[in-house]
Amino acid sequence: MTDIQYALAQNDTPAIRRYQRNASKPDLRHIPGNSGLPIVGNAHNLLFRFEDYINNSYKKYGPIFKFKSIGTIGTEGVWLLGPEANKLVLQNQGKIFSNYFGWNIAFKGLFDNALLEQDFNNHKANRKILQAAFKKEAVQSHMEIMSPILKNGIHQWPTNTLFKTLTPLKTLLLDTGSKVFLGLDPGHESAELNQAFVNIVMAVADPFKEKGPFFFPYARGVKGRQTITDFIFRNIPKRRNNPGKDIFSQLCVLTDDDGKRLSNEEIRDQVLFVLFAAHDTTTSTLCSLLYAIASNPKWQEELREEISNLDKDHLEFDDLTLMEKTSWSIKETIRMYPPLGVMPRFTLEDVEFNGYTIPANSQVMISAVFSHYDEEYWSNPRQFDPRRFSPERAEDKKDFFQYIPFGGGAHKCLGMHFAETQIKTFLFHFLKNYRVEPKTRNGDYKFRWVPLTFPSDGLPLTFRKL
Ligand code: HEM
Repeated sequence: MTDIQYALAQNDTPAIRRYQRNASKPDLRHIPGNSGLPIVGNAHNLLFRFEDYINNSYKKYGPIFKFKSIGTIGTEGVWLLGPEANKLVLQNQGKIFSNYFGWNIAFKGLFDNALLEQDFNNHKANRKILQAAFKKEAVQSHMEIMSPILKNGIHQWPTNTLFKTLTPLKTLLLDTGSKVFLGLDPGHESAELNQAFVNIVMAVADPFKEKGPFFFPYARGVKGRQTITDFIFRNIPKRRNNPGKDIFSQLCVLTDDDGKRLSNEEIRDQVLFVLFAAHDTTTSTLCSLLYAIASNPKWQEELREEISNLDKDHLEFDDLTLMEKTSWSIKETIRMYPPLGVMPRFTLEDVEFNGYTIPANSQVMISAVFSHYDEEYWSNPRQFDPRRFSPERAEDKKDFFQYIPFGGGAHKCLGMHFAETQIKTFLFHFLKNYRVEPKTRNGDYKFRWVPLTFPSDGLPLTFRKL
């Protein structure tokens, strides 16, 4: 193990900072690609023409090419595309790729010590503790908590008129998150915390971070972090004495292998990150899914039939496995519109890929968007076709690393079952009561990929009461 691998595994912050200060700039001259404009590099392409940028670059240079950018979307490094690249990076044999240096550009000061930006042994120990909060029984109790909130929330939405669904959907999922993650009922306190959380999320995308002026999103994000920290620190003693079923309470009482509880700061860091990891990803999936079923009315009808065949007023945990077509639809949605289209890492040593040596200290990016549309693996990849995930067709099974909406390897998403449960519960209440229609019959889904996949026009849809 090198010194830096050891420092990351031990979470030795001073040693990590020292390395960061002294790391030499990688020499990428031998790697094909175009570093873009002076100063901003390829930032514009990454933000506004992401899919064209990676597809055109792949055609021109192949599965490895260099880039330059600013702020949250990277500094200087290489793109690695395709299942082979995903395997190399996500399996991370030899501990060559660091999550800390990959994600810290976006998270610093906002989601410090997030599980996703931990490496090696330090990550393994913390993941083990957090895993307990996502066991089957825990998700089952979360489902019972979120079901009535989702049901009531959907019934507040307007019908028979075109309305922008993104904001109300976000609010609904924030209310659900407040209850499931923080144990708070909708009200003044949860509204204040929701706003603080939204400010933190907006600050993640601020390219200037602490260097920007006080009225930029980063400063509001840091304040938001303080608001949530105050709430968490104030409530830890109460939750330790009288824990609820929410994730915050569970983290207050969980222990590691030696019977040690998490410190106040560890509880704060994990709660904050889980809120973040859960919220925008699920909102993104539901937006894309609502759009997809609005544009494919026959398939929407099939899903409604599947739900009505359950013959239930209240969805129970065991019913989820019977919602097979709904499962395929979720999988197909996050194939076509993976919420997290880019996964950043950082090389701690030189590494070979496709005949090139990527030097140590390079930012490395992989993308689900590229492999999810690769015609070598998917038939008509631009078509919404949930049956491709049926056991008969199993198009996702050709290569273990072709389909990576939840990542893979040591950092594979911890909340994938939670996400599926929440989305199925939403659809159960929604499709039983409403039909969704798109703005125009053959309209495009207007969305952006980076930093997360989101509708860029607020997602105008019409709901009709059945
Ligand atoms: C459809 C919804 C979701 C998608 C597509 C998604 C996607 C991902 C991806 C791609 C990663 C790995 C990123 C990387 O390796 O750089 C990840 C990690 C993670 N996700 Fe999710 N996620 C979703 C929902 C959730 C939910 C609902 C939760 C919590 C309730 C959650 C908790 C986490 C956590 C804790 C990690 C970090 C795991 C680790 O570093 O060990 N996610 N997610």
